[in-house]
Amino acid sequence: MLLVTKSQKETFELGKGIARKLRGGEILGLEGDLGTGKTTLIKGVARGLGVKRAITSPTFVLMKVYKARIKGDNNAGKRGFFVHVDVYRVKDEQGLIEIGLEEYLGKKDTVAAIEWADKVRRLLRGKKVIWIKMGIGKKKENERIIKIGK
Ligand SMILES: Nc1ncnc2c1ncn2[C@@H]1O[C@H](COP(=O)(O)OP(=O)(O)O)[C@@H](O)[C@H]1O
Ligand SMILES: [Mg+2]
Repeated sequence: MLLVTKSQKETFELGKGIARKLRGGEILGLEGDLGTGKTTLIKGVARGLGVKRAITSPTFVLMKVYKARIKGDNNAGKRGFFVHVDVYRVKDEQGLIEIGLEEYLGKKDTVAAIEWADKVRRLLRGKKVIWIKMGIGKKKENERIIKIGK
């Protein structure tokens, strides 16, 4: 699915829309250069999952865990977690294993979103990842092209 947004707000709203479809256990793998809107989209997802704390970029801490509302299979909605990971600075995947990322991936009560996920493909191997590829539009400065699914 290919989508185009025309402002930061639209990308945020798209993130909220994606969140409505999530049940828990999903891993969102975001690809795309700096400034393509990965963090913006993730902020929207977080808002959609009821995260109340402000989302700040985890570039230096690699991973942040927030309390969230997870729908579950029965759509009831229960307490769970939203995990935001940014592996931009990660050189090898061992560091991510050490901070315990793997334990969150695919957990039923957790939605994870990973910026620069293509850098840690090995860690994600065998896991079901919803790939979201972001790019800058060719014509307009504020245009972003967002491809969901491979
Ligand atoms: N359509 C758009 N969607 C998202 N961000 C946009 C858009 N148009 C312009 N921008 C700008 O692009 C930047 C995106 O930043 P950010 O979400 O941090 O990207 P990334 O995490 O990919 O580096 C922001 O400065 C934002 O104002
Ligand atoms: Mg970012």
